[in-house]
Amino acid sequence: MFFRERMSEGMDVGQLLREYLNSPESSLNINDYSFRTQREEELKSSSVLTTRWHKLRHHSIQQSFLNSIYRFNVVPSGRRSGKTEIAKRRLVRKAVKNKKYSNARFVASAPTHLQAKRIFWDDLKKLVPKKLLLCRPSESELSLFLVNGSEIQVVGLDVPERIEGNPITHILLDEYGNMKPSVWEEHIRAGLSDHKGTADFIGVPEGRNHYHDLYVDAQNSANEEWSTFEWPSSDILDPDEIKSARSLLDPITYLQEYEAQFVSFQGAAYYQFSEENVKYPLQYQPHKPLIICFDFNVSPGVAVIAQEFEGNYQYNGDSLVGPPFTGIIGEVYIRDNSTTPRVCNKIVDKYGNHKERVVCYGDSTGGARGTAKVSGSDWDLVEKILRPVFGHNFRLNVPRANPRERVRINAVNSRLQSVDKHIRLRLDQKSTPNLIRDLEGVRLKDETGEIDKSDLKLTHLTDALGYYVAREFPTIERKIKMEQF
Ligand SMILES: Nc1ncnc2c1ncn2[C@@H]1O[C@H](COP(=O)(O)OP(=O)(O)OP(=O)(O)O)[C@@H](O)[C@H]1O
Ligand SMILES: [Mg+2]
Repeated sequence: MFFRERMSEGMDVGQLLREYLNSPESSLNINDYSFRTQREEELKSSSVLTTRWHKLRHHSIQQSFLNSIYRFNVVPSGRRSGKTEIAKRRLVRKAVKNKKYSNARFVASAPTHLQAKRIFWDDLKKLVPKKLLLCRPSESELSLFLVNGSEIQVVGLDVPERIEGNPITHILLDEYGNMKPSVWEEHIRAGLSDHKGTADFIGVPEGRNHYHDLYVDAQNSANEEWSTFEWPSSDILDPDEIKSARSLLDPITYLQEYEAQFVSFQGAAYYQFSEENVKYPLQYQPHKPLIICFDFNVSPGVAVIAQEFEGNYQYNGDSLVGPPFTGIIGEVYIRDNSTTPRVCNKIVDKYGNHKERVVCYGDSTGGARGTAKVSGSDWDLVEKILRPVFGHNFRLNVPRANPRERVRINAVNSRLQSVDKHIRLRLDQKSTPNLIRDLEGVRLKDETGEIDKSDLKLTHLTDALGYYVAREFPTIERKIKMEQF
């Protein structure tokens, strides 16, 4: 009401906001906007703050980040530790407080457009008091225009050019470790010059990549514009969730995701693989679904054959007690000049009489590296050969895009052995000699954690296994229960 009436009186927007901020109707002391105090309770009940500004438990580092006056803030904190929540509140607060620029731009960004929309859009609409909106939110541009001349924009940096154009007053880069390394220097930094803009880099660490470099530079920098803030997930998350993460994740993944450490990936890719994983003989179970994992390749041509086992597996009159596990009961390994039909025929020879479900997992690009000796995509060939054999029991379970290599490696390591020493991936030693060689032999190139592919015989079987494990047992469970206050 306040704005509509005055605007129709032809008043300038900036002047209008100043008047509003000073008016008794506003009572808007934006410095209180985070950890709600008695004052904020009053503000909320007088409907200046929206109900989305719910109260957060006091946490001193979160609070320091929220109120940081540094120009550039690097915040590598744990999974579900409240990084995004605090950064969103910071951004809205800055946008609402802006009195300086009539074209101020506040950008909430993430690695992709879809991610950015999912993380920010609904929440930003709820965080900005309706009274401060100049017009309806633009659903097509994901923009909010405020009466003081601020624009809040949600942007995916998969197409970094989206960010170029008007000066940037403040930018929030979420999941910065997953962004292209060039984004900051090539597409953003120059845009901050006009308004002497600010930037918050947040996200879980991602090995020793560009995020790590930025963090180290920020820490060592004599430049007073930079600061870092970090806190572990355990400060915020329910202790049961931390316990569950320790039971499910391998130590390196746990350290990175929950303790927010920039871990160094070096040496053996599958560092959690040990004698323990091959200790017990596993037999083919005709009454259980059969899982076939493909990585399409010529020399060697491979597939991994798996089944899911219950915790109390009986073998040779003995029993294995522990959590349910993925059992690798076989492999296909055609050393040279393989084709997808040859791999499939081997599977048919051995498991053609399987009467339960048969589900295929693998490389979604369908062998882009090419088994070009035969026509059709690799998945077409798999379907053509295996469907007639297994009939209505046959399924393909292939995502539209492959998960990142690091995500697959983490998923396999976590299942090989967790922080709490739970084993959820076991191999039958006799039937999987090449997969075992792969698990022992695959190395990482350097501390960025990329797989060394220089031995052409290695990596294919573990890649095949990784597609299945990452799809069915991803390491990061998104819907973690939160302790709310
Ligand atoms: N101090 C706090 N007190 C209570 N709840 C909090 C606090 N900080 C954050 N939360 C809540 O924790 C949940 C997770 O927060 P948020 O999504 O910001 O975490 P994140 O670190 O960005 O997680 P992710 O790693 O999944 O991106 C949210 O529901 C948020 O409201
Ligand atoms: Mg987040």
